[in-house]
Amino acid sequence: INIILLGPPGAGKGTQARRLVDDRGLVQLSTGDMLRAARSSGTEMGRRVAEVMDRGELVTDEIVIGLIREKLSEGGNGFIFDGFPRTLAQADALGALLDETGMVLDAVVEMQVDDQALVRRITGRYTCGNCGEVYHDDTKPTARPGVCDVCGSTDLRRRADDNEDSLKTRLLEYYKKTSPLIGYYHAKGKLKVVDGLADMDQVAGQIAAALPMPQ
Ligand code: AP5
Ligand code: ZN
Repeated sequence: INIILLGPPGAGKGTQARRLVDDRGLVQLSTGDMLRAARSSGTEMGRRVAEVMDRGELVTDEIVIGLIREKLSEGGNGFIFDGFPRTLAQADALGALLDETGMVLDAVVEMQVDDQALVRRITGRYTCGNCGEVYHDDTKPTARPGVCDVCGSTDLRRRADDNEDSLKTRLLEYYKKTSPLIGYYHAKGKLKVVDGLADMDQVAGQIAAALPMPQ
């Protein structure tokens, strides 16, 4: 199956995508992660991407569509699109890419979380630099302080754009440019809505119920 996780910054897209990778064997395609890899590559493109991301603005459609096209061409047995598409142009491009490769979009899961909760989630988040596991100071701390539960790494990091200023811009970008996708996918009959404010297990259960049964 192929699904899109749609929701504002901090809604829990990455957290739930990682669970779907474990539970359903899907491949996570996070344009945020791809762009963070590009920025640490030290190229001119990476430097330009870093500036845009740190301000909380969207990177150009051309760049992110190129990244997704490359990943889809590698093939796979079902994808979770995490943080993509984020504009109507990206949604149209994804539709065309899926058509070209004979793949079908099964569902678009909108994760609803109010702005106050998003601020708490974003300002408390940290991530393992080695395996990518996502933590939170209050809701999901590591069992041992400073050590990743999954891989034992001590390389725990906070993101440069996880501050209140960038978050304001990220939220504005979401409501202006990304939220129109809710209507777009509703009209296509693909939209499923889950309550992203519930705890992580409950959200996972709601998503599972919204997806076709595993074969
Ligand atoms: P990206 O990396 O996609 O960031 P984002 O959309 O802002 O989403 P986040 O990663 O912040 O949040 P999330 O929903 O994954 O939440 P998480 O699971 O971590 O994009 C970053 C930047 O890259 C963009 O601003 C843009 O510049 C650029 N970019 C990326 N894609 C692009 C595109 N397609 N086009 C153009 N530009 C693009 O959870 C957050 C926290 O909450 C964690 O600490 C977690 O532990 C906690 N948490 C999660 N679920 C729960 C729960 N149910 N209860 C309590 N706590 C929870
Ligand atoms: Zn780790």
